[in-house]
Amino acid sequence: MRLAKLKLRDFRNFRRLDAAFEPGFHVLVGRNAQGKTNLLEAVYLLATLRSFRGAGNAQIIRHGQKAFFAGGLALGQTESEIRHYWSAAQRKLTVNEKPIRRITDYLGTLRTVVFCAEDALLVNGPAKARRRFLDLLLTQTQPGYLGLLHRYTGALRSRNALLRRDSPDLALLDSFTRELVANGEKLITARRDLVKKLSPLIRLGYRKIAAKPEDAGIAYAPSVREDFAVDLAKSRVREQRHRTTLVGPHRDELKLALDGQPAAQYASEGQKRTFAIALKMAQGDYLAGIHGSAPILLIDDVMGELDAGRRAGLIPLISRTDQALGQVFMTCTEENWPGELSGNLHRWQVEQGSLKRMS
Ligand SMILES: Nc1ncnc2c1ncn2[C@@H]1O[C@H](COP(=O)(O)OP(=O)(O)OP(=O)(O)O)[C@@H](O)[C@H]1O
Ligand SMILES: [Mg+2]
Repeated sequence: MRLAKLKLRDFRNFRRLDAAFEPGFHVLVGRNAQGKTNLLEAVYLLATLRSFRGAGNAQIIRHGQKAFFAGGLALGQTESEIRHYWSAAQRKLTVNEKPIRRITDYLGTLRTVVFCAEDALLVNGPAKARRRFLDLLLTQTQPGYLGLLHRYTGALRSRNALLRRDSPDLALLDSFTRELVANGEKLITARRDLVKKLSPLIRLGYRKIAAKPEDAGIAYAPSVREDFAVDLAKSRVREQRHRTTLVGPHRDELKLALDGQPAAQYASEGQKRTFAIALKMAQGDYLAGIHGSAPILLIDDVMGELDAGRRAGLIPLISRTDQALGQVFMTCTEENWPGELSGNLHRWQVEQGSLKRMS
């Protein structure tokens, strides 16, 4: 899958951008604060309608303007001309000039995997970051998953609101519990299956980057031990005390271990970085396996944190994508240009919100 064209208007520091991209490896070079990450953010936004920096749409509008536009031509099994306009008053999203009403109809038009500074949270951060990683991948691969997640979260919110009352309506609590269990069990099954499939991909990816026999293991640790309904019933007394739902997929953990030890407490910074990259590489491999074509890789400033050996291990993994007519966009400054990169490269200079092809 690839992005053949990108058009931006008043997007961050890009007043206007009209670019065409071939398949292959694109390196975006520039000094700090020129717009390299903004460009990756634009591609990611076209794929997911979100920012990977956690920014809201209002922050994306170029200072002093009232709206932004991001559009592109995505080439996969089909051709999709995407147009996304956003202002506080009006949003418009079309594919091939047809308006999109439900986000689930849109996701998959463009598929990306992003590697960025925030990935450190996957290893160091709270369990929520790892649940989100699993949920995003399931959303990208299972059509019904997002709906399931929304129904679960809705039931959880209602149930918790009820638990906060002094004397909750028990019949109502029962009905929210049933809704919670029905959707929660499906979430658990989907996450368990996914982790089983990801686990060998992560182990292998990590080994290739580290070029050492370090073992990166992941394990799904669901909050539900045996049976969701039974565990909920058992937690009733504690629930009354805490006034919130104490078991369920919203409390799941994905355990990361390096050579059998918890990665967050045991691994070095470089090893943690390698682990985070291996998780993202596995996401890309898994998506490629399911959809039959590699997602676009968006790589923001990750090389700098790896030593020469690990960089040399990573480069072949990311440049492999271009053999299958995939696409990679990678940012770097002139100083940290990865010398290990060679072969067929497209180089772009990013300077104050403009993009120029370099010879
Ligand atoms: N809404 C906005 N309107 C105008 N400019 C913005 C907006 N949001 C961010 N910027 C500016 O965009 C510039 C470039 O940001 P970006 O994060 O893309 O830099 P970068 O090239 O990735 O730099 P670095 O190498 O430091 O990561 C910054 O100077 C920032 O202030
Ligand atoms: Mg940047």
